[in-house]
Amino acid sequence: MKETPFPDEVPEEADRPSIDPPEGSEAIRPEPGNLFESSPISLPVLNELKGENILNAGQFTFEQVTELCKLAAALEKLEIWPYHPLDGKIAVTAFFEASTRTRTSFESAILRLDGKVISIADGSTTGQAKGESLADIGEMFNAYADCVIMRHTKTTAPEEILQNLRIPLINAGNGSGEHPTQALADWFALLKWNPELASPRKPGAGKMNLGILGTPGSMRAVKSFLLMALLFQDHIGKVTVISEMADPFGEEVIQSLTDANIDYEVSNDVREHLPGLDVIYMNSIAFLGDSYKNMDSRFKLNAESPIKESAVILHPLARLDELDTSLDKTPHNLYFSQAHGAVFIRQALLMAVLDRLKALPNLIDLEINTTS
Ligand code: CP
Repeated sequence: MKETPFPDEVPEEADRPSIDPPEGSEAIRPEPGNLFESSPISLPVLNELKGENILNAGQFTFEQVTELCKLAAALEKLEIWPYHPLDGKIAVTAFFEASTRTRTSFESAILRLDGKVISIADGSTTGQAKGESLADIGEMFNAYADCVIMRHTKTTAPEEILQNLRIPLINAGNGSGEHPTQALADWFALLKWNPELASPRKPGAGKMNLGILGTPGSMRAVKSFLLMALLFQDHIGKVTVISEMADPFGEEVIQSLTDANIDYEVSNDVREHLPGLDVIYMNSIAFLGDSYKNMDSRFKLNAESPIKESAVILHPLARLDELDTSLDKTPHNLYFSQAHGAVFIRQALLMAVLDRLKALPNLIDLEINTTS
């Protein structure tokens, strides 16, 4: 690793006006300092992720998610790049399915920490076009990089590449399966919005009602968001799923909700439920079979919708017309902060998985707890 230029100095505060909402907009960009300044970040908890494959939202503990979010908040607030945390590390971003945010935010995360990227933006440029198996592609990647970030149309793609892959795999979306790092980005946005979610609920504190406009059984981002929500069950009053499907959950999600004793309801009446929701998670694009489908498209929101004044909207994006642009400048808009924050939560995850937390400068001033 390169010598850090100022190993004993407190990192400077970052100046990031480009991710502030534009002038005249009331969209939310929560202050990241509120999340990490009140309690130390636990390195031992983050070190549990060293060398791990990141395959699904359910693999994380509450502590791992909250400590990742606190580290991500520090990365958002402070200038860490002068410490070159990923210097010498190479990641392959292997995308066999289209992406705007996930690939570029992962690549931005790596490049801004001085790591290097081998970028496959289109699977048709790999041997897959000639019929090569993912297992064989995985064997090759072992020699070329230190981790693989893969998106694929097939739900079984992670297990196929893992037949031979011996470096960490981060699942960036597998068909209608899961999208665990999107769930981290979702909960990072929510924890910055309400830092109390990062601690057990205080006696007498209110609970939030989550509304899902979408179909978790067919939409990987919605499914991973809900599975990660189970870690925050103590803070959740009720989950309402508004879907065109009579049974929108899929077996795994419904079992998990039942096991976690979370109160849930399914409805197809958006106007009835909207005024009672504190957090609204929307999506309309599902990857079914071998193509995209627009589902739940009759559940549309705009600035005139009867949304609670304090409620926030999350959307993994891309959007179609279910999320009207008239909401972009309102205080309900947490979705742009959610997308922008994905860079920092992915940086935190990569530093943990690639064992580069030790590159963090000035542990004391970052209030990082190395002992518990
Ligand atoms: N949220 C998300 O997965 O976006 P992309 O499809 O653009 O990567």
